Amino acid sequence: MGKERSEKERGGGEHNKRNLFVSCVVMNSCAAELKLLLTALLVICSVATLFQILPPRFTISASDLRFCISRISTSNTSIASLNSTPTSTPTMPPSPSPPSIRKDQVADNGVIKRVFNPYGSAAYNFITMGAYRGGLNTFAIIGLASKPLHVYSKPAYQCEWVPQSSSASNSTFSTVSYKMLPDWGYGHVYTVVVVNCTFSEAVNSENSGGKLFLEASTSGGGDRDFNITDRFEVLNESPGDINTTLFSSKPKYDYLYCGSSLYGGLSPQRVREWIAYHVRLFGKRSHFVIHDAGGVHEEVLEVLKPWMELGYVTLQDIKEQERFDGYYHNQFMVVNDCLHRYKFMAKWMFFFDVDEYIHVPQKNTIKSVLDSLSDYTQFTIEQMPMNNKLCLSADYGRYYRYNYAYSLFFFFLFFF
Ligand SMILES: *[C@@H]1O[C@H](CO)[C@@H](O)[C@H](O)[C@H]1NC(C)=O
Ligand SMILES: *[C@@H]1O[C@H](CO)[C@@H](O)[C@H](O)[C@H]1NC(C)=O
Ligand SMILES: *[C@@H]1O[C@H](CO)[C@@H](O)[C@H](O)[C@H]1NC(C)=O
Ligand SMILES: *[C@@H]1O[C@H](CO)[C@@H](O)[C@H](O)[C@H]1NC(C)=O
Ligand SMILES: *[C@@H]1O[C@H](CO)[C@@H](O)[C@H](O)[C@H]1NC(C)=O
Repeated sequence: MGKERSEKERGGGEHNKRNLFVSCVVMNSCAAELKLLLTALLVICSVATLFQILPPRFTISASDLRFCISRISTSNTSIASLNSTPTSTPTMPPSPSPPSIRKDQVADNGVIKRVFNPYGSAAYNFITMGAYRGGLNTFAIIGLASKPLHVYSKPAYQCEWVPQSSSASNSTFSTVSYKMLPDWGYGHVYTVVVVNCTFSEAVNSENSGGKLFLEASTSGGGDRDFNITDRFEVLNESPGDINTTLFSSKPKYDYLYCGSSLYGGLSPQRVREWIAYHVRLFGKRSHFVIHDAGGVHEEVLEVLKPWMELGYVTLQDIKEQERFDGYYHNQFMVVNDCLHRYKFMAKWMFFFDVDEYIHVPQKNTIKSVLDSLSDYTQFTIEQMPMNNKLCLSADYGRYYRYNYAYSLFFFFLFFF
């Protein structure tokens, strides 16, 4: 899942330091236990398309490509499992304690007691992206939180369910079973957090509505004298909202693709090839969730539109997350959100990038390969770089219409 590259957004303006690898994860959303397997599926870390798709400021050296080859993805990024209720969450700035200006004092014994006056607050305690029900008594909350707080301290999370009707006025508390930090430590100011709230009993079992609140406590991480707790609503269920058959019925799709953040000057031609190729590969019972972090400019949108109209593509505008420092346009938050949001809609979910192509070896179909893996809940895909000798350099960095047949030609040349 996700492509990692260190470039100028990291390392204080350095953009000659670059590495690239690609990893792909596929999850079977039916079971809860995660196992791992390398399979015969291939993802092509395609150099040709990389050249076309990436913004012009990227160049790729031979050493970058080696990364691509050697890094067979085993990124069993811990991701929790979840469901599908969009949430409206007002992101309130945390209120820092008002500064009380104090002055140095000279004690009777002549010792000068220095004082330290804190002002403001440099990072939000929590920034929500989504909260989703994962069953009768469990929820996942996906967002960003202050990174130093998580790395050097022990912030605590607690969830509270508040029923809508005042007659059922007893609210249930849960201790958070766990939180996960899935972004490999690459964020600077913020890190991605997935909070798992599991209650001891079913919540909203009468389906009469209610709200889920998250209480995020700093536990003295920012100031040892204070354990500041922010309490905010993360999910609001109206009466009749829950349909529990969702958790047990046959999912709507066989395959659902969760794309990581798209950014930069994407080539519409390459996106067109990519989506056409994969719709054909995955078939009618498939769906593609694309996340636009600025990469879906007008021409790319034009390419995606027909697929959106046919019901194959859902496009999500996630440009606002750019306000908050994060690794690669917060891709780890984005894909975790996608996982929990759409988990119950598909049998299998795929996480790979738009410069990667899934190839199924001859005599197999995507269905036969996945059927053979039905006992597993997760597997990764071996990847092969495309030979850069195949790159069509003539239109590198350019957008104009060019022969579609050319690029299809790439896909079929290099497979064994
Ligand atoms: C990946 O999974 C393996 C085997 O299940 C485990 O030993 C390893 O710690 C996991 N790595 C991460 C980063 O979760
Ligand atoms: C929370 O964690 C529990 C235990 O691992 C798991 O069964 C449950 O599905 C998780 N909830 C969500 C919403 O992912
Ligand atoms: C909440 O109310 C239900 C019935 O309305 C009751 O059975 C349950 O014990 C109450 N829970 C708490 C924690 O008070
Ligand atoms: C801070 O407050 C939260 C919520 O009340 C609590 O769970 C946590 O243990 C407290 N942390 C410390 C260090 O006291
Ligand atoms: C619940 O969802 C199922 C399909 O998932 C649908 O057939 C059923 O009509 C829904 N029930 C209600 C009450 O909306």
